[in-house]
Amino acid sequence: MYNAKAVITGILIFLVLCTSPFWASRTGKDYTKTGIVLPKDEKNCVENRDFMRAEHMRLLNEWRDEALRRENRLYTATDGRKWNISLQNTCLKCHNNYKEFCQKCHVANSVYPYCWTCHIIPGEKNQ
Ligand code: HEC
Ligand code: HEC
Ligand code: HEC
Repeated sequence: MYNAKAVITGILIFLVLCTSPFWASRTGKDYTKTGIVLPKDEKNCVENRDFMRAEHMRLLNEWRDEALRRENRLYTATDGRKWNISLQNTCLKCHNNYKEFCQKCHVANSVYPYCWTCHIIPGEKNQ
């Protein structure tokens, strides 16, 4: 007979190893390791930080659709605050260090949004 305990332990270790990239990226998600610079004068984002981390791309899509398809330029956040729907005048007003915030994290994650052929990054020429 084989040793059931050892086999089960083995399987468990195997599972943990296989799935570690998955849960390590869920739980310990430490974006601060990418060295992003957060706005200094503001404490809160439009929505809470976890939501922003996970959903900002979808939020931006929603904003664009609201603004362009429904002509609605006002976003009411979960906490009731109202925001002007604008990538440049809202998001990038607070996150005015594009290089050290958006771009730093995107490069670390190999994401290259194509927005900046049209939208302007503050402090830089449109390029
Ligand atoms: C081909 C040019 C182009 C590209 C590329 C582009 N946009 Fe836009 N976007 C526009 C134009 C034009 C408007 C309308 C501006 C207005 O009416 O105020 C707009 C409006 C928006 C708005 C709502 C209003 C505002 O001023 O912010 C959001 C949000 C937005 N875009 C997000 C994005 C995001 C995110 C990307 C990249 C994934 C992107 N756009 C890529 C041209 C572009
Ligand atoms: C009023 C200022 C302000 C505005 C407007 C704003 N942010 Fe933020 N944002 C912050 C602050 C401050 C934080 C970090 C602190 C927090 O919210 O807990 C943050 C956090 C984030 C994060 C998470 C960063 C991390 O730590 O992982 C993302 C992504 C983000 N914002 C994107 C956006 C986008 C996209 C928009 C526009 C839809 C936007 N922000 C609008 C101030 C702002
Ligand atoms: C903490 C890390 C982080 C920060 C900070 C961050 N992003 Fe992102 N962003 C990501 C990741 C990761 C993705 C890709 C996620 C996916 O594809 O599901 C992404 C995707 C996007 C996309 C969609 C790109 C595409 O091709 O689908 C847009 C647009 C975007 N981010 C805009 C911004 C803007 C604007 C800021 C700064 C205000 C910002 N992001 C800050 C991590 C970040």
